Amino acid sequence: MQPQAANTLPTPGTAEQSHSDQLTQVIRNEIDNAGGAIPFDRFMELALYAPSLGYYVAGQRKFGATGDFITSPEISPIFAHCLARQSQQILKQLPTGELLEFGAGSGILAADLLAELEQLGSLPEHYLILDISPDLRLRQQETLQQKVPHLLSRVQWIDRLPEQFCGIIIANEVLDAMPVQRFRIGDEWIEEEFITYNNQGEFTTLYKPADTPGLIQRIDEINNLQPLPVGYLSEVNQRATSWIRALAASLQQGAVFLIDYGYPQREFYLPERSTGTLMCHFQHRAHDDPFKLVGLQDITAYVDFSAIADTAHEAGLRVDGFATQAHFLMSCRLEQILAKSDPDDLINHLELMQGVKKLTLPSEMGERFKVLGLSRDLEEEPIGFSLMNMLDHL
Ligand SMILES: C[S@@+](CC[C@H](N)C(=O)[O-])C[C@H]1O[C@@H](n2cnc3c(N)ncnc32)[C@H](O)[C@@H]1O
Repeated sequence: MQPQAANTLPTPGTAEQSHSDQLTQVIRNEIDNAGGAIPFDRFMELALYAPSLGYYVAGQRKFGATGDFITSPEISPIFAHCLARQSQQILKQLPTGELLEFGAGSGILAADLLAELEQLGSLPEHYLILDISPDLRLRQQETLQQKVPHLLSRVQWIDRLPEQFCGIIIANEVLDAMPVQRFRIGDEWIEEEFITYNNQGEFTTLYKPADTPGLIQRIDEINNLQPLPVGYLSEVNQRATSWIRALAASLQQGAVFLIDYGYPQREFYLPERSTGTLMCHFQHRAHDDPFKLVGLQDITAYVDFSAIADTAHEAGLRVDGFATQAHFLMSCRLEQILAKSDPDDLINHLELMQGVKKLTLPSEMGERFKVLGLSRDLEEEPIGFSLMNMLDHL
């Protein structure tokens, strides 16, 4: 989706506007309490996850044709069918194994994945879902009740990572929804972006010398690899780093598949991305102004897969593979799945083909989206990286 001018966005309805105004006031109050400014990652956290008001917790449609953006599992069940084949291969290697999906959105991936694993005779005992949005939990329950009522009893919603987990962890478009810190290379020092508001109550940015723990060190690491020029502005996702450490501590045996849009570090911090990768979505329009439609629009940032892989490695996980979504799906026997579709069943067949194109074409989601595979204590390499493995790009 190409960015659009933020002033051409559709106008929200009265109820939506009032919701946004309420959240805006909550954020202004927090800015006042913090002495006049909050770091950008806190602003993003409130915009997306403030209790009862944040974008992901307050009832908007979000996913699908009537929402703000569409994700791979919403596009076609083929995505889940390929992941089911990947999961089957891993589950076979484990004495007991469960699935754990982070940020399950509408619940469509859980429903399609369970249905396909049932077909393959590889149903796990439990399918755990961990989502920070209580509103989405309800939606996930509805989807599963509607699509796979007989499998609902296998699904458990959890509030924190199990202390010890054996099985497969899947997170599709979760890393990009984590609040990021924004930094700018200043003349004299590295600056962190803070959010304040002006006399009209509008949010504005200001830059302070960065002193948040870990931030300078991370930017120094990036700078050492590719020196960033003065004025360069970008993001660092330290919450993702903590999250990966927690996953690694929990995973006793099994695999992790992280699917998202992003780049290896050397492509992330390129000169042409000198204003960062932040992107907002409202009713299928993409733009880069996080201060518009606060609480009504999604805010995301691309994922630095090298940072994720490095942290996973340091935390004792094996980094198995890195591939484009297209290659990962093809490696998971996409052609065998398609061969089962009957071309005489014209409408369903065409719909399936249309979905596959969206998921795999380079101009659609095939190359922008990547899959990172991590594991602990598994003998076989995941099948998803058999056709292409770009580990050396990380
Ligand atoms: C962009 S949506 C993706 C939804 C779904 N995976 C899909 O592909 O359709 C991001 C999801 O991640 C959840 N989320 C974000 N941060 C999370 C975290 N730290 N732990 C668990 N869920 C999280 C959100 O509530 C939301 O369900």
